[in-house]
Amino acid sequence: MRIKKIAKKLPKHLQTAIKQTFKLSSKFRKKINQIKCNVLNLDPVTGFRIYKIQKLTHIGKPKWTRNDLKNKLKEFSELYKNRPIKDNYYGMKSPHMFSAWFVIQFLKPEHIIESGVWKGQGTWFFEKAAPSAKIHSIDINLGLRKYISEKVIYHNIDFFDIDWNDIPKEKTLCFFDDHQNAVKRVKFAKKNGFKILIFEDNYPPSQGDCYSLKKAFATKSGKDADYLKNVLKVYYEFPPVLKSEKTRWNDKWNDKKYPTPEPLYRNVENEYLQVYFDESIHYTWICYAELK
Ligand SMILES: C[S@@+](CC[C@H](N)C(=O)[O-])C[C@H]1O[C@@H](n2cnc3c(N)ncnc32)[C@H](O)[C@@H]1O
Repeated sequence: MRIKKIAKKLPKHLQTAIKQTFKLSSKFRKKINQIKCNVLNLDPVTGFRIYKIQKLTHIGKPKWTRNDLKNKLKEFSELYKNRPIKDNYYGMKSPHMFSAWFVIQFLKPEHIIESGVWKGQGTWFFEKAAPSAKIHSIDINLGLRKYISEKVIYHNIDFFDIDWNDIPKEKTLCFFDDHQNAVKRVKFAKKNGFKILIFEDNYPPSQGDCYSLKKAFATKSGKDADYLKNVLKVYYEFPPVLKSEKTRWNDKWNDKKYPTPEPLYRNVENEYLQVYFDESIHYTWICYAELK
Protein backbone atom coordinates (compact mmCIF):
# COMPACT_ATOMS: atom_id res chain seq x y z
CA MET A 1 0.00 0.00 0.00
CA ARG A 2 2.69 2.44 1.11
CA ILE A 3 4.77 1.65 -2.00
CA LYS A 4 1.74 2.31 -4.21
CA LYS A 5 1.16 5.72 -2.53
CA ILE A 6 4.81 6.72 -2.93
CA ALA A 7 4.84 5.43 -6.55
CA LYS A 8 1.85 7.63 -7.38
CA LYS A 9 3.86 10.72 -6.48
CA LEU A 10 6.65 9.78 -8.91
CA PRO A 11 6.81 10.96 -12.52
CA LYS A 12 4.79 8.87 -15.01
CA HIS A 13 7.79 7.21 -16.73
CA LEU A 14 9.12 5.99 -13.36
CA GLN A 15 5.66 4.64 -12.39
CA THR A 16 5.57 2.62 -15.65
CA ALA A 17 9.07 1.28 -15.05
CA ILE A 18 8.14 0.09 -11.52
CA LYS A 19 4.94 -1.60 -12.78
CA GLN A 20 6.89 -3.46 -15.47
CA THR A 21 9.49 -4.64 -12.94
CA PHE A 22 6.71 -6.05 -10.70
CA LYS A 23 5.02 -7.72 -13.66
CA LEU A 24 8.30 -9.28 -14.74
CA SER A 25 9.10 -10.57 -11.27
CA SER A 26 5.64 -12.14 -10.82
CA LYS A 27 5.93 -13.71 -14.30
CA PHE A 28 9.35 -14.98 -13.31
CA ARG A 29 7.97 -16.42 -10.05
CA LYS A 30 5.14 -18.13 -11.94
CA LYS A 31 7.61 -19.59 -14.42
CA ILE A 32 9.87 -20.91 -11.63
CA ASN A 33 6.81 -22.41 -9.88
CA GLN A 34 5.74 -24.08 -13.12
CA ILE A 35 9.18 -25.63 -13.62
CA LYS A 36 9.23 -26.82 -9.99
CA CYS A 37 5.76 -28.38 -10.39
CA ASN A 38 6.73 -30.08 -13.64
CA VAL A 39 9.87 -31.55 -12.13
CA LEU A 40 8.24 -32.68 -8.86
CA ASN A 41 4.90 -33.61 -10.44
CA LEU A 42 2.88 -31.20 -8.30
CA ASP A 43 -0.44 -29.51 -8.97
CA PRO A 44 0.50 -25.82 -9.53
CA VAL A 45 -2.63 -24.56 -7.73
CA THR A 46 -2.82 -26.83 -4.67
CA GLY A 47 0.79 -27.95 -4.52
CA PHE A 48 -0.47 -31.54 -4.12
CA ARG A 49 1.38 -34.35 -5.79
CA ILE A 50 -0.26 -35.57 -9.01
CA TYR A 51 -0.13 -39.25 -9.73
CA LYS A 52 -0.02 -40.52 -13.23
CA ILE A 53 -2.79 -43.00 -12.60
CA GLN A 54 -3.14 -44.28 -16.15
CA LYS A 55 -1.30 -47.49 -15.47
CA LEU A 56 -1.87 -48.01 -11.77
CA THR A 57 -3.95 -51.16 -11.83
CA HIS A 58 -1.46 -53.23 -9.89
CA ILE A 59 1.55 -53.20 -7.58
CA GLY A 60 3.67 -56.34 -7.38
CA LYS A 61 2.35 -59.67 -8.62
CA PRO A 62 -0.16 -62.13 -7.17
CA LYS A 63 0.63 -65.84 -7.00
CA TRP A 64 -1.66 -66.71 -9.93
CA THR A 65 -1.40 -65.92 -13.62
CA ARG A 66 -3.95 -64.81 -16.21
CA ASN A 67 -3.97 -68.39 -17.50
CA ASP A 68 -4.87 -69.67 -14.02
CA LEU A 69 -7.89 -67.35 -14.14
CA LYS A 70 -8.86 -68.39 -17.66
CA ASN A 71 -8.58 -72.07 -16.77
CA LYS A 72 -11.22 -71.74 -14.05
CA LEU A 73 -13.87 -69.79 -15.96
CA LYS A 74 -15.66 -72.86 -17.28
CA GLU A 75 -15.84 -74.57 -13.89
CA PHE A 76 -17.18 -71.42 -12.26
CA SER A 77 -19.79 -70.88 -14.98
CA GLU A 78 -21.17 -74.38 -14.20
CA LEU A 79 -21.28 -73.62 -10.47
CA TYR A 80 -22.90 -70.26 -11.20
CA LYS A 81 -25.86 -72.03 -12.82
CA ASN A 82 -26.60 -73.61 -9.43
CA ARG A 83 -26.39 -70.40 -7.38
CA PRO A 84 -29.14 -70.16 -4.75
CA ILE A 85 -30.16 -66.58 -5.59
CA LYS A 86 -30.94 -66.00 -9.24
CA ASP A 87 -31.69 -62.28 -8.83
CA ASN A 88 -28.80 -60.85 -6.83
CA TYR A 89 -29.54 -57.22 -7.58
CA TYR A 90 -27.17 -54.95 -5.59
CA GLY A 91 -24.96 -57.98 -4.97
CA MET A 92 -22.16 -59.59 -6.96
CA LYS A 93 -22.72 -60.95 -10.45
CA SER A 94 -20.56 -63.48 -12.30
CA PRO A 95 -17.50 -61.29 -13.09
CA HIS A 96 -16.81 -60.27 -9.47
CA MET A 97 -18.13 -63.44 -7.87
CA PHE A 98 -15.73 -65.37 -10.10
CA SER A 99 -12.76 -63.28 -8.91
CA ALA A 100 -13.61 -63.74 -5.22
CA TRP A 101 -14.33 -67.47 -5.65
CA PHE A 102 -11.12 -67.89 -7.68
CA VAL A 103 -8.84 -66.40 -5.00
CA ILE A 104 -10.47 -68.41 -2.23
CA GLN A 105 -10.18 -71.77 -4.02
CA PHE A 106 -6.64 -70.85 -5.09
CA LEU A 107 -5.29 -69.69 -1.70
CA LYS A 108 -7.42 -72.01 0.44
CA PRO A 109 -7.51 -69.78 3.55
CA GLU A 110 -8.37 -71.50 6.82
CA HIS A 111 -10.56 -68.58 7.89
CA ILE A 112 -12.68 -66.21 5.83
CA ILE A 113 -14.21 -62.96 7.03
CA GLU A 114 -16.97 -61.74 4.74
CA SER A 115 -18.21 -58.21 5.39
CA GLY A 116 -21.38 -57.36 3.47
CA VAL A 117 -23.62 -60.42 3.23
CA TRP A 118 -26.79 -59.01 1.65
CA LYS A 119 -28.84 -62.08 0.57
CA GLY A 120 -26.00 -64.52 1.21
CA GLN A 121 -24.92 -65.35 -2.33
CA GLY A 122 -21.25 -64.64 -1.55
CA THR A 123 -21.40 -66.86 1.54
CA TRP A 124 -22.66 -69.76 -0.59
CA PHE A 125 -19.84 -69.38 -3.14
CA PHE A 126 -17.19 -69.01 -0.42
CA GLU A 127 -18.33 -72.27 1.16
CA LYS A 128 -18.05 -73.95 -2.24
CA ALA A 129 -14.56 -72.49 -2.80
CA ALA A 130 -13.18 -73.53 0.60
CA PRO A 131 -15.42 -76.19 2.19
CA SER A 132 -13.24 -76.61 5.27
CA ALA A 133 -12.69 -72.88 5.97
CA LYS A 134 -14.25 -71.30 9.05
CA ILE A 135 -16.39 -68.43 7.78
CA HIS A 136 -17.40 -65.32 9.71
CA SER A 137 -20.03 -63.30 7.86
CA ILE A 138 -20.86 -59.74 8.88
CA ASP A 139 -23.77 -57.51 7.95
CA ILE A 140 -25.33 -54.70 9.94
CA ASN A 141 -28.63 -55.95 8.54
CA LEU A 142 -28.72 -59.73 8.61
CA GLY A 143 -32.46 -59.71 8.03
CA LEU A 144 -31.99 -59.66 4.25
CA ARG A 145 -30.38 -63.11 4.03
CA LYS A 146 -32.02 -65.65 1.76
CA TYR A 147 -29.20 -68.18 2.03
CA ILE A 148 -28.25 -68.89 5.67
CA SER A 149 -25.58 -71.44 6.48
CA GLU A 150 -25.53 -73.45 9.68
CA LYS A 151 -21.75 -73.60 9.56
CA VAL A 152 -21.15 -69.85 9.29
CA ILE A 153 -20.72 -67.55 12.29
CA TYR A 154 -22.78 -64.43 11.67
CA HIS A 155 -22.15 -60.98 13.20
CA ASN A 156 -24.31 -57.88 12.99
CA ILE A 157 -21.74 -55.31 14.07
CA ASP A 158 -18.96 -53.67 12.09
CA PHE A 159 -15.70 -55.54 11.35
CA PHE A 160 -13.81 -52.97 13.49
CA ASP A 161 -15.92 -53.78 16.55
CA ILE A 162 -15.49 -57.55 16.56
CA ASP A 163 -12.87 -59.23 18.73
CA TRP A 164 -10.62 -61.12 16.30
CA ASN A 165 -8.11 -62.24 18.93
CA ASP A 166 -8.75 -65.95 18.40
CA ILE A 167 -8.27 -65.87 14.65
CA PRO A 168 -4.87 -66.72 13.06
CA LYS A 169 -4.55 -63.58 10.95
CA GLU A 170 -1.99 -64.94 8.47
CA LYS A 171 -4.35 -67.76 7.49
CA THR A 172 -7.37 -65.48 7.13
CA LEU A 173 -8.80 -63.88 4.03
CA CYS A 174 -10.93 -60.76 4.55
CA PHE A 175 -13.47 -59.98 1.89
CA PHE A 176 -15.18 -56.56 1.94
CA ASP A 177 -18.35 -55.77 0.05
CA ASP A 178 -19.76 -53.38 2.66
CA HIS A 179 -19.22 -50.00 0.98
CA GLN A 180 -17.03 -48.67 3.77
CA ASN A 181 -13.76 -46.70 3.64
CA ALA A 182 -11.21 -49.17 2.20
CA VAL A 183 -8.12 -47.29 3.40
CA LYS A 184 -9.39 -47.46 6.98
CA ARG A 185 -9.91 -51.22 6.50
CA VAL A 186 -6.29 -51.55 5.32
CA LYS A 187 -5.05 -49.56 8.33
CA PHE A 188 -7.00 -51.82 10.68
CA ALA A 189 -5.66 -54.90 8.89
CA LYS A 190 -2.11 -53.60 9.20
CA LYS A 191 -2.53 -52.88 12.91
CA ASN A 192 -4.10 -56.26 13.64
CA GLY A 193 -1.96 -58.50 11.42
CA PHE A 194 -4.42 -59.43 8.65
CA LYS A 195 -2.58 -59.95 5.37
CA ILE A 196 -5.00 -60.93 2.63
CA LEU A 197 -7.82 -58.59 1.64
CA ILE A 198 -10.29 -58.36 -1.22
CA PHE A 199 -12.30 -55.20 -1.90
CA GLU A 200 -15.31 -55.62 -4.09
CA ASP A 201 -16.39 -51.96 -4.38
CA ASN A 202 -13.17 -50.65 -5.89
CA TYR A 203 -14.72 -47.61 -7.51
CA PRO A 204 -12.73 -45.19 -9.67
CA PRO A 205 -12.55 -41.46 -8.76
CA SER A 206 -15.86 -39.60 -9.01
CA GLN A 207 -17.93 -42.82 -9.03
CA GLY A 208 -19.49 -45.04 -6.38
CA ASP A 209 -20.55 -44.40 -2.80
CA CYS A 210 -17.38 -45.16 -0.84
CA TYR A 211 -13.68 -44.38 -0.63
CA SER A 212 -11.88 -47.18 -2.47
CA LEU A 213 -8.23 -48.10 -2.92
CA LYS A 214 -8.54 -47.13 -6.58
CA LYS A 215 -9.66 -43.66 -5.51
CA ALA A 216 -6.89 -43.45 -2.94
CA PHE A 217 -4.27 -44.16 -5.61
CA ALA A 218 -5.69 -41.33 -7.67
CA THR A 219 -5.94 -38.65 -4.96
CA LYS A 220 -3.89 -35.57 -5.64
CA SER A 221 -2.47 -35.25 -2.16
CA GLY A 222 -1.05 -38.76 -2.57
CA LYS A 223 -1.01 -39.22 1.23
CA ASP A 224 -3.12 -42.37 1.19
CA ALA A 225 -1.48 -43.60 -2.00
CA ASP A 226 1.95 -43.25 -0.37
CA TYR A 227 0.68 -45.09 2.71
CA LEU A 228 -0.75 -47.92 0.60
CA LYS A 229 2.42 -48.23 -1.47
CA ASN A 230 4.32 -48.53 1.78
CA VAL A 231 2.24 -51.28 3.36
CA LEU A 232 1.04 -53.31 0.36
CA LYS A 233 3.12 -56.04 -1.18
CA VAL A 234 0.50 -56.67 -3.85
CA TYR A 235 -2.35 -54.54 -5.18
CA TYR A 236 -4.08 -56.28 -8.04
CA GLU A 237 -7.20 -55.23 -9.90
CA PHE A 238 -8.78 -58.30 -11.44
CA PRO A 239 -9.10 -57.99 -15.19
CA PRO A 240 -12.64 -57.98 -16.56
CA VAL A 241 -13.40 -61.39 -18.07
CA LEU A 242 -14.86 -59.53 -21.03
CA LYS A 243 -15.32 -55.79 -21.35
CA SER A 244 -18.82 -54.41 -21.66
CA GLU A 245 -19.48 -51.94 -24.45
CA LYS A 246 -19.87 -49.10 -21.97
CA THR A 247 -18.94 -48.71 -18.33
CA ARG A 248 -21.24 -49.30 -15.37
CA TRP A 249 -22.08 -45.56 -15.61
CA ASN A 250 -22.99 -45.82 -19.26
CA ASP A 251 -20.08 -43.75 -20.49
CA LYS A 252 -17.24 -44.72 -22.81
CA TRP A 253 -14.19 -46.58 -21.54
CA ASN A 254 -11.41 -44.08 -21.11
CA ASP A 255 -8.08 -45.23 -19.81
CA LYS A 256 -7.36 -41.90 -18.16
CA LYS A 257 -10.61 -41.87 -16.22
CA TYR A 258 -10.91 -45.62 -15.79
CA PRO A 259 -7.51 -47.31 -15.98
CA THR A 260 -8.39 -50.99 -16.40
CA PRO A 261 -6.38 -54.19 -16.84
CA GLU A 262 -6.59 -55.93 -20.19
CA PRO A 263 -9.70 -58.18 -20.23
CA LEU A 264 -9.12 -61.93 -20.24
CA TYR A 265 -11.02 -62.25 -23.51
CA ARG A 266 -11.95 -59.82 -26.28
CA ASN A 267 -14.81 -61.95 -27.65
CA VAL A 268 -17.19 -64.64 -26.45
CA GLU A 269 -15.06 -67.45 -27.84
CA ASN A 270 -16.85 -70.20 -25.95
CA GLU A 271 -20.39 -70.69 -24.81
CA TYR A 272 -19.39 -70.65 -21.13
CA LEU A 273 -18.08 -67.09 -21.55
CA GLN A 274 -21.54 -65.78 -22.43
CA VAL A 275 -22.68 -65.25 -18.83
CA TYR A 276 -19.58 -63.18 -18.05
CA PHE A 277 -20.32 -61.01 -21.08
CA ASP A 278 -24.01 -60.69 -20.24
CA GLU A 279 -23.12 -59.42 -16.75
CA SER A 280 -19.94 -57.54 -17.68
CA ILE A 281 -21.53 -54.12 -17.04
CA HIS A 282 -21.28 -54.87 -13.28
CA TYR A 283 -17.47 -54.86 -13.26
CA THR A 284 -16.04 -52.29 -10.82
CA TRP A 285 -12.32 -53.15 -10.51
CA ILE A 286 -12.62 -55.70 -7.68
CA CYS A 287 -9.14 -55.94 -6.19
CA TYR A 288 -6.83 -58.13 -4.16
CA ALA A 289 -4.55 -56.46 -1.62
CA GLU A 290 -1.77 -58.30 0.20
CA LEU A 291 0.03 -56.62 3.07
CA LYS A 292 3.80 -56.87 3.52
C1 LIG B 1 -23.67 -54.81 -1.93
S1 LIG B 1 -24.33 -55.57 -0.52
C2 LIG B 1 -23.35 -57.02 -0.36
C3 LIG B 1 -23.56 -57.99 -1.47
C4 LIG B 1 -23.03 -59.39 -1.24
N1 LIG B 1 -21.61 -59.40 -1.00
C5 LIG B 1 -23.35 -60.24 -2.43
O1 LIG B 1 -22.55 -60.28 -3.35
O2 LIG B 1 -24.42 -60.79 -2.52
C6 LIG B 1 -23.75 -54.56 0.77
C7 LIG B 1 -24.13 -55.04 2.14
O3 LIG B 1 -23.31 -54.36 3.08
C8 LIG B 1 -24.05 -54.20 4.27
N2 LIG B 1 -23.36 -53.25 5.13
C9 LIG B 1 -23.48 -51.91 5.21
N3 LIG B 1 -22.64 -51.41 6.12
C10 LIG B 1 -21.96 -52.46 6.63
C11 LIG B 1 -20.93 -52.61 7.61
N4 LIG B 1 -20.43 -51.57 8.24
N5 LIG B 1 -20.49 -53.85 7.88
C12 LIG B 1 -20.98 -54.93 7.23
N6 LIG B 1 -21.95 -54.85 6.30
C13 LIG B 1 -22.42 -53.64 6.00
C14 LIG B 1 -25.44 -53.83 3.78
O4 LIG B 1 -26.41 -54.10 4.77
C15 LIG B 1 -25.56 -54.73 2.55
O5 LIG B 1 -26.23 -55.94 2.86
